[in-house]
Formats: sequence, C-alpha cells, structure tokens
Amino acid sequence: MNIPKIIIAIDGYSSSGKSTLAKDLAAKLGFKYIDTGAMYRAVTLFAKQNGIINDKGEIDEEKHKEKLPGIDLNFKNVNDKNHILLNGKDVEDEIRSLEISELTSKVSKLPFVREFLVAKQREIGKDKGIVMDGRDIGSVVFPDAEVKFFVTASPEVRAKRRYEELKAKGMKADYDSVLNSLLERDKQDTTRKTSPLVKTDDAIVIDNSNLSREEQLELALKYINERLKNLDNAKN
Ligand code: DC
Repeated sequence: MNIPKIIIAIDGYSSSGKSTLAKDLAAKLGFKYIDTGAMYRAVTLFAKQNGIINDKGEIDEEKHKEKLPGIDLNFKNVNDKNHILLNGKDVEDEIRSLEISELTSKVSKLPFVREFLVAKQREIGKDKGIVMDGRDIGSVVFPDAEVKFFVTASPEVRAKRRYEELKAKGMKADYDSVLNSLLERDKQDTTRKTSPLVKTDDAIVIDNSNLSREEQLELALKYINERLKNLDNAKN
C-alpha cells in the first residue's frame, strides 16, 4: 500500500496485540517497526546481568545511571522477525521470560532510563516511515505522530495470549500467575509517575478482544486512510 512516510504510534496494555498490529502494519506499508518494550526489557536484562538488580529485585539506581552509556541497542532482522541486540548479542528470547517481564515494570519507572531510551527512539524515528509501539509513544516520544492507536483487549484474553506464547516457547507458565502478573503490570504501567500509559485525546481505540489478526489490520488501515484524508483536507 502506498502512503506517505508518516509516524504511526501504537500504545496499549501488555499482551494487547499491539506488537502484532505494529508488525502487520509495518509489513503492509513497507515501514520500519520498532518494539520499544524490547528496549526496556533489554536494559533490564543488562541490569540483571551486571549486578545492578540483586536477587531480591532491588535496583542500585546510582550504579544503573553510571552504567547506562555502556548499553548499545540495535535491531536485526532474523527470519523476517525483528530481534533486539544488546551490546551485539541477540537477546530476543531471554528478554521475554516472566522474571524479566516483572523486573522491567520497575526499571521502566526510572526517569533516567526513560530519558535514555526516549532519546534513542526519537533518533530512530527521525526519518519517519515508522511504526513504533509501547506505552508512551503517542504521549511522549512522538506527540505529533500523524496516526496514534490505543490498543486494548480484556485482561483474560490478554493473559491467555501471553500464556500460549510462553508455552509455545517451551517456557514454564500457569494461566493464573500469568493473569496476576499481567494485572500487576497494568497497574504499574498506568499509575507510575513518569510517562504512565494513557490514551491521548487524538488516539484511535482498537479493542481487539473479538477481532482476528486480519480484522484488526483491516480496521487499522481503514482508520489510517481516514486520518490521512482528514490531514489532507486540513492542509487544503
Ligand atoms: O510491551 P512490553 O510488554 O514488551 O513492555 C515491557 C515493559 O516495558 C512493560 O512493563 C512496560 C514497559 N514499557 C514502557 O514503560 N514504555 C514503553 N514505551 C514500552 C514498554
């Protein structure tokens, strides 16, 4: 599909399907796809591996601040999937464990971590033609994005998706702990002081509890076309 190089910001809860939508849109439009959750997860993995987070889950903030500049993040295409590289190493699987998911909620609250990653995200998106997903993309990273989506689904549907995802990867998981951990993360994501997850006034809500992947993509493309038409009309 041929559309101008714009920024598409996608925000939403954990396991809401926002990454699936972001990937599908990027593939359909020939845009770059950036998963900012993977960036927060990789920073957390780095902190865990370097003794910045202890076994009780406590973070040494001073040490974390000091070590941040030593973190190099890149994305690499592996079999048509975007994998994140942490200082050159592919950590795509490691960052998805339940332990790292839980610790990431804590690390992503730290203002100096957010500042560090937001600067990287703006640099990556400066040439537009990008779909970026996360929690604060439409509100903080790219408040002027041409199109913003807020993706949601019921907690039960989301927990089932995450549970299936973990099982498919051969990881240990039980549905109740996945649901509880997800509800806890929702709470942390929406109530934290720095850049909480919010729906901005100009974001389009997609509730995909009862939508197939294809239906979600079709709906999003319809909204994008409408938004671009409105932007065009406003210009003329
Ligand atoms: O989208 P995800 O579940 O992979 O995100 C992992 C964690 O990172 C989650 O706790 C929210 C946080 N995050 C964030 O605070 N800001 C973003 N832009 C992306 C993710």
